[in-house]
Amino acid sequence: MEKVNLPILKKKAKKIAEQLGVELYLVGGVVRDWLLKGGEEEFKDVDLVVSSSRKHFAILLAEELNIPLEDMEFWDEYFVVKIGKLIDVASFRREYYPEPSVLPKVSEAETIVDDLKRRDFTINAMAYRLWPEPEELIDPFGGREDLKKRLIRFLKRDSFVEDPTRIYRAVRYKERFEFEFEEETFNRILLDKNYISRLTPARIRSEFERIADEDKLINCLEFIYEYNLVPNEVVHFLKKPNRDLIENFLRSRKEFNNEAFLITILSMILDSRLDQDDIELLAKRFAFTKKEMRVLEEIEVLKELALIDNLKEAYKLYIILSPMGKKISRLFTDMVEVIEERVEQVKLSGNDIINIAAKKGVRLLGKEVGVLKKRLIAEVVSSENGLSEMKQRELVEKWVSCKN
Ligand code: CTP
Repeated sequence: MEKVNLPILKKKAKKIAEQLGVELYLVGGVVRDWLLKGGEEEFKDVDLVVSSSRKHFAILLAEELNIPLEDMEFWDEYFVVKIGKLIDVASFRREYYPEPSVLPKVSEAETIVDDLKRRDFTINAMAYRLWPEPEELIDPFGGREDLKKRLIRFLKRDSFVEDPTRIYRAVRYKERFEFEFEEETFNRILLDKNYISRLTPARIRSEFERIADEDKLINCLEFIYEYNLVPNEVVHFLKKPNRDLIENFLRSRKEFNNEAFLITILSMILDSRLDQDDIELLAKRFAFTKKEMRVLEEIEVLKELALIDNLKEAYKLYIILSPMGKKISRLFTDMVEVIEERVEQVKLSGNDIINIAAKKGVRLLGKEVGVLKKRLIAEVVSSENGLSEMKQRELVEKWVSCKN
């Protein structure tokens, strides 16, 4: 992934600030990480704030850095201009929440301190003035001290009511930096966690996508599980996160990047029994795509079979995850080889199943053929000594007769 070199950026940005006669600050994560890691030079994203002329400033800086600007129309409403995916240029902003837990209305603010006031935690509410010189840390809420004390502390009591995504942000920072919650902040998280239910599914999904990106993903999920930090209607589906699944995922994260979100949620509901209504509820609450929802449905069918047939634990896992494709099955490399050998022993194709059913006077839908095929695979894989073709035919005949 491309990164920003801070010394180079500072030099170029300062020159432009001087030329335009505007104040210029580094803000948020970059200041926090720079203080925390003792002067690191490369950053994956950098937030800049200017006192005015953000568009003009961003155009000149993008030119200097030779990075294209993102579509300005879209970002303008948030007072932010994006230079590539790497740099945000904003002007001083104030936020006002028309009601709890919806996106804020944004308006212009007078000073950098006003801008810092709207932020989530003291460690994120620091600015570093680059221009006019001398360079100086602006730290009105004691962020630097909290970094030293390794504390996550909110700025105001209704922070989580206004924006419950901050609960997830707090968990990420706590686990990422191995910090603690300041006492009142933690109490407020517990008191206000119900507001998570008011967030739109897209916002919840986006928070879980960011959690899925964390190295300490398991710790984040265990914390979320321990304190039930999900929308109320889905709390009872949550189980202790499946460590094996997450650890395997983390070992081959690159390969599974597109499935990161699904694996993350799955790790917490794998051991739950879900009916169609439950799946629909989960899909709605976490904004699953159609494809992700289908995976959940498949998993449930297979879980059911696994339970009926009392499969050994390993087979169960394989079967549960195989609908997600070979790629995901590979998370379980140890068992896959043995299992695939067994899958080879399945002698009947989809067409064979259709013909057997037809002989019994049953017309199968495509979906039903798929389910029967998987059921047959489950039988063959879990049988002690394999199943002859004849036995396999008998089984299918039995199943289709039941349907009649
Ligand atoms: N911010 C906030 N409340 C939010 C989201 C963001 O106050 N719900 C502020 C914080 O000051 C944060 C800054 O906006 O530092 C930038 O947000 P973001 O890019 O999401 O976070 P980073 O601080 O860059 O942290 P991370 O390392 O997780 O990207």
